[in-house]
Amino acid sequence: MEIIIKENGQMASEAAARVVGRLVRDKPNAVIGLATGSTPLMLYKELIRLHKEEGLDFSGVTAFNLDEYIGLPADHEQSYRRFMNENLFNHINIKMENTNVPDGMAEDVPATCAAYEQAIVDVGGIDLQVLGIGSDGHVGFNEPTSSFASRTRIKTLTKQTVADNARFFDGDESKVPHHCITMGIGTIMDAQMNIMLAFGEGKSEAVAATVEGPVASIMPASILQCHSSAKVFVDEAAAADLKLVDYYRWVYKRKPDWQKDA
Ligand code: PGA
Repeated sequence: MEIIIKENGQMASEAAARVVGRLVRDKPNAVIGLATGSTPLMLYKELIRLHKEEGLDFSGVTAFNLDEYIGLPADHEQSYRRFMNENLFNHINIKMENTNVPDGMAEDVPATCAAYEQAIVDVGGIDLQVLGIGSDGHVGFNEPTSSFASRTRIKTLTKQTVADNARFFDGDESKVPHHCITMGIGTIMDAQMNIMLAFGEGKSEAVAATVEGPVASIMPASILQCHSSAKVFVDEAAAADLKLVDYYRWVYKRKPDWQKDA
């Protein structure tokens, strides 16, 4: 794992956007996995800027989102489809038909999940997956004790996640759906590269457990220790509980130039 600590979320997001930008330039038909929530917003703003000001071309890119709430139609204010359209897809030149978000209104959830997995396989797999992390260590909506072998499926959100996400639903936990469709941990681990972003003190314990704790399904993100290409972008607050923080800074300063896209 590579730990990239930046002064603030904006700088960390710009660094993460350079990694995405490099992939899209090197591989115009790249397949990118995307995440929702507060964390990736600055990354998406920067990707929009790279598109508008520097001509970053998404016309050949395919996107797959990690997850969606069950029971929210695509046009619901809090659906992840709408989030993606409003915060990224509508502002870059990705073809809408090449954007994929699980269907939260699917009648046959298992069949929809299987088709989502197949669609990823059909385009050759995900080149780069963007991840946030829940305060309980979830990635996508793979809550604690999710199987490391899991694929896209239905999950029940933890009470912690319902409470964390109530802020998007007028602070009313009773409005937060309890179920979702999420890519599995196995799906995420199949991506060629994973980049995780985490900002703020509320994430510092989960980040430390992910990077330095044991690999255990109680902390789902810890499986990234077993991924051959995982980068974790954090601000100072999210880095606060890392024991080897000086070492990560030392390594980053000494990165060879050719590796310095981030
Ligand atoms: P957040 O969510 O970015 O809104 O904190 C992260 C997550 O739940 O993965």
